[in-house]
Amino acid sequence: MFINSFNIQKENKTKIIAEEISKICKKGDVLAISGSMGVGKTTFIKYFIKKISKAKSVPSPSYNIILPYESKISNIFHMDAWRLKNHNEALSLGITEMFDNAIFLIEWAEKIRLLLPNNCLSLIIKNIDNNKFLKIVGNEVWSKRLKNIKKYEEH
Ligand SMILES: Nc1ncnc2c1ncn2[C@@H]1O[C@H](COP(=O)(O)OP(=O)(O)OP(=O)(O)O)[C@@H](O)[C@H]1O
Ligand SMILES: [Mg+2]
Repeated sequence: MFINSFNIQKENKTKIIAEEISKICKKGDVLAISGSMGVGKTTFIKYFIKKISKAKSVPSPSYNIILPYESKISNIFHMDAWRLKNHNEALSLGITEMFDNAIFLIEWAEKIRLLLPNNCLSLIIKNIDNNKFLKIVGNEVWSKRLKNIKKYEEH
């Protein structure tokens, strides 16, 4: 288990880190993004998807719940769990079957935490005073894969 914390007060920092992570992601990766309303979850995912696909816009899937994208690396699914009432509703969408065959990015991941794979990468965005922080938590495999983003770490 490792934890990295980044000051992402400037939106460009969100962009840099999202793009760096997108470059090392592959089919089967699940990224669980949490944080309060309007904190910057969709913005992070927008930079991630735009970097590795030809998508012109990456809207919030809060209405559709899941929006698909394609890239050379893998199918991508962008999910927003905000409107789901319970874990069963997420299960009935078949998301656990999609995890292995896509890069799966989930906003409000805390709402479906029992369904998340153990090897998912957790990203938590928080506003503290006038700053915005991104905390990344993952296993040792993720730690090795993400060694290049450690240089952006600052507290
Ligand atoms: N450093 C930053 N990182 C990310 N977004 C930022 C930053 N600074 C300002 N913003 C702005 O904050 C807003 C964040 O909105 P966004 O839709 O990404 O939040 P969200 O967490 O997805 O909201 P919701 O809870 O409704 O899903 C955007 O307008 C974005 O441009
Ligand atoms: Mg959002």
